[in-house]
Amino acid sequence: MKTLEEIAKIRSKKRQELDLRVNKGFNGREKHILVCQGTGCTSSKSPEILETFKTLVKENNIENVRVIKTGCFGLCAKGPIVIIRPEDTFYAMVKPEDCKEIIEKHILNGEIVTRLLCKDIDGSKVNNLDELTFYKKQKRIALKNCGVINPEDIDEYIAFDGYLALEKVLTSMNQEEVIDIIKASRTSWTWRSRFSNRKKMGVN
Ligand code: FES
Repeated sequence: MKTLEEIAKIRSKKRQELDLRVNKGFNGREKHILVCQGTGCTSSKSPEILETFKTLVKENNIENVRVIKTGCFGLCAKGPIVIIRPEDTFYAMVKPEDCKEIIEKHILNGEIVTRLLCKDIDGSKVNNLDELTFYKKQKRIALKNCGVINPEDIDEYIAFDGYLALEKVLTSMNQEEVIDIIKASRTSWTWRSRFSNRKKMGVN
């Protein structure tokens, strides 16, 4: 990868391929099983879950399913977390021995494994990540693609606008414009206000 054209080509091709990760209405035959490999989930055997899914997909000759490792979804207490996309089904506290049931019921028969759905704070079972109270009040900015892409695949990063800001800076902005935009982001103000709010609340 040596030119901007090459990056643009990867971005548009790969983005089409990965649209099902962010588009619940994606109309295709493929499914992606996303398995969290963040520290919390890893300590609860998520690498074993990832390998078990890969083995089961192979053994059952399932062609339209990919098993993908992701970074932390942010709800480590409910890990290991497995999300099936495009439908965005959120399975929590998954164990390696649950993989067979997920493959047989969900992947092969389109049936949700309700006993593994994540419980919300009121005890109700929730189907999708966006429906959980924990996520409803959040707007993830820097980490918005965490849990969506494979952090070890540079093409997936590029597909979700990786390097786009750098590209813009290098090709269409001068130094003053870059400085102005950083100032306008008010990052330092945000941090200052956060620290002063913490002080007001008596938090160090
Ligand atoms: S480590 Fe898996 S959700 Fe945080």
